[in-house]
Amino acid sequence: MKKKVSFLVSGRGSNFTAVAEKIINGQIKADLGVVISNNKKALALETAQKMGIAFRAIEHHDYLKREDHEQEVLKVLKEYKTDLVVAAGYLRVLSADFIKNYQNRIINIHPALLPSFPGLNAQKQAFDYGVKVTGCTSHFIDSGVDTGPIILQETVKVESKDTPETLSQKILAKEHLILSESVKLFCENRLKVEGRKIFLLKN
Ligand code: GRF
Repeated sequence: MKKKVSFLVSGRGSNFTAVAEKIINGQIKADLGVVISNNKKALALETAQKMGIAFRAIEHHDYLKREDHEQEVLKVLKEYKTDLVVAAGYLRVLSADFIKNYQNRIINIHPALLPSFPGLNAQKQAFDYGVKVTGCTSHFIDSGVDTGPIILQETVKVESKDTPETLSQKILAKEHLILSESVKLFCENRLKVEGRKIFLLKN
């Protein structure tokens, strides 16, 4: 049975678009669920509409309590029978209660080589630190910030002519690749999680 993939987004949505295109063109064998944004102005929602993918704005400002917002997000994910949640530039930390509903079924993409430079503006954190190599990491979300088991990583060299912007662009291109590959592996049941370690099973 094909898995149903839904997305949590907050902004531009290029990672969401990269994965959704591969699902639509059959490179990833899965069905599309829903795209949920906590920001109704997210470009990602416009893109979802243009691509004919179901979308919802569920703004956190509209809820008094964080749990109420998460409950609504969960309700919609379940309405669409979501098997896998892809957090693609979702700027909210998910609570342990939320995660329990999708244990090892929420993939996040982070623009640095974890465990270095977790949190926001990771590309600039790495640039300012002066690293020579950085990159990106896809991982399952656990209850910490950017601490879950790592699925894939890809490296990017920092060159002397780089700025935080050029570096972010180079990292983003790799993010699209490893996020898509991670979703593909999940959908083919090829991710075996053992504690912190994830083993990639052969086809
Ligand atoms: C990406 O760099 C992602 O790693 C980070 O936020 C950015 C989102 O970009 N978490 P986009 O919305 O996917 O274009």
